[in-house]
Amino acid sequence: MSRTSRIPGFYKESVESRRRLLAEAADLDGPELTRVLAGGGLDVATADKTVENVVGTYALPFSVGLNARVNDRDFLVPMVVEEPSVVAAASNAARMIREGGGFTAESDPPWMIAQVQLWEVADPRAATERVTAARDRLLALADESVPGLVARGGGGREVEVRDLGDGLFVVHILVDVQDAMGANLVNTVAERLAPEIAALAGGRVGLRILSNLCDRRCVRVRARVPAAMLATDELPGDAVRDGIVLASRFAERDPYRAATHNKGIMNGVDAVAMATGNDWRAIEAGAHAFAARRGRYEPLCTWRAGDDGSLVGSMEIPLAFGVVGGTLRVHPSARLALKLLAVRSAQELAMVAAAVGMASNLAALRALATEGIQRGHMSLHARGVAMAAGARGDEIERVAASIAEACNVTVDAARAALGRLRAPVMTPASGSADLGK
Ligand code: MEV
Repeated sequence: MSRTSRIPGFYKESVESRRRLLAEAADLDGPELTRVLAGGGLDVATADKTVENVVGTYALPFSVGLNARVNDRDFLVPMVVEEPSVVAAASNAARMIREGGGFTAESDPPWMIAQVQLWEVADPRAATERVTAARDRLLALADESVPGLVARGGGGREVEVRDLGDGLFVVHILVDVQDAMGANLVNTVAERLAPEIAALAGGRVGLRILSNLCDRRCVRVRARVPAAMLATDELPGDAVRDGIVLASRFAERDPYRAATHNKGIMNGVDAVAMATGNDWRAIEAGAHAFAARRGRYEPLCTWRAGDDGSLVGSMEIPLAFGVVGGTLRVHPSARLALKLLAVRSAQELAMVAAAVGMASNLAALRALATEGIQRGHMSLHARGVAMAAGARGDEIERVAASIAEACNVTVDAARAALGRLRAPVMTPASGSADLGK
C-alpha cells in the first residue's frame, strides 16, 4: 500500500492525537504503538539482558520526521534525538526537496570489510601472489563460517591485499552481509580465515576485525530544490540559494567548517540510526573517516546552483545500517521504528537515513545563510529551559514564548517569567477581599 509522509499540522497536535494520526498513516495498531512507546520502549529486565551492570534505562524523545520522499516512495521517518530543532528542520527541508521531486538515491551492495592483519611478512610480493591465487578457496572458507548468511544470499565476495610496509600486511575479505549491519558476521569471517592467510603469506597473525570505514557500502543521494522554495520573509529564493552554495564552498575549503557541516548531516543520520537500533558510533566512525579519504577532511554533502536556477545537493556517505539482528532482537521501539518506516531492505534504510541527513544539512545551511541559527533554535530550546525552571503543562509554552521573545533564554529568566505567571492577579476587589480576611 502506498503511504504519504505529509501530515499537515502534525506538530500542533497533542502527543495522543499524533499517535493516532501516525497509526492511521502507517497502518499500525494504535494501542500497540502507545504500549510499545510507553516508558521509552525498553523494560529494565530486557535492558539487563542486553548489556552489563544495568541499573535502569535512559529514555530520549521518539519523534517522526515528515515529508520524506525517496526514489518516489514516501517514508514516515522515526527519529530519536535530544536536540531541539533537528526533527522540525529536517521535516521542513524535506518538504522543500519534495517540491523538486524528492530525493533520488542509490546504494552499493551491502559489502563490509573484514581485516586480517599480519606482522613480520618477510616477502610481501610473494605473500600477495599466494593470497591472491587462493582467492576462491578463501571465499569458500568464508562462506563455510557463515552458513546462515549464505542461505540468505550473502557471503564472501572478494579478497584484497594491502602491503603497508615494514612487514605489516593486511588482507581484506569483502563480505555481502545482506540486511545485517554485519559486524559479527565479518568478525567471524576474519577469525576463521586468519590462520589460512597467515599460512599463505607467512608472518604472525595480528588483529582480525571489521573496518568501520565501509567504503564499499556507500549511499549516494541527490536532491533539487526550486529556488523559490528557499525564500524567507527577508530574502528572495535565489539569494538564499547563493548563500547556501557559498556555505557549501566554505566547508569544501575549510576542515574546521566541514566538521560542523558534517555534524549537521549526522544530526539526521544518527537520529534514524538511534530510532532503528543501529550502531551510530560505527556509522559516525565510517562517515568521518570517509570525509577524510582524500587526505583532507571534506564535507559529505555539497550544494550548487543547477542550470535551471534550482539548488542541487549531492551527498556520498558510507552507511552500515541493518534491519535484522543486534538491538532489533530486543528493543520493541526499534522494531516499531522499522514497521513505521516499512523499508524493504537495509540498503533502503540507509538511503532514507542519508536523505534525512541531507535534509538536516539543507535546513542548517538555509538558516545559517539567512537569519542565523539561533532564533529558531532558541525558541525551541526555550521549552526545555522553561521546564528546567519548573514550568509544567500549559505554563511551558507560555514561559518559553516569553523568554524567547525577550531573547533571554536562561533558567533565571524562565523562573522570573514563571513567577509572574503564577502570581495571583490582584484586582481591587480581590485585594480588598484578601485584606478583609
Ligand atoms: C547543530 O546541531 C548543527 C549545525 O551547527 C550544523 C551546521 O552548522 O551546518 C547548525
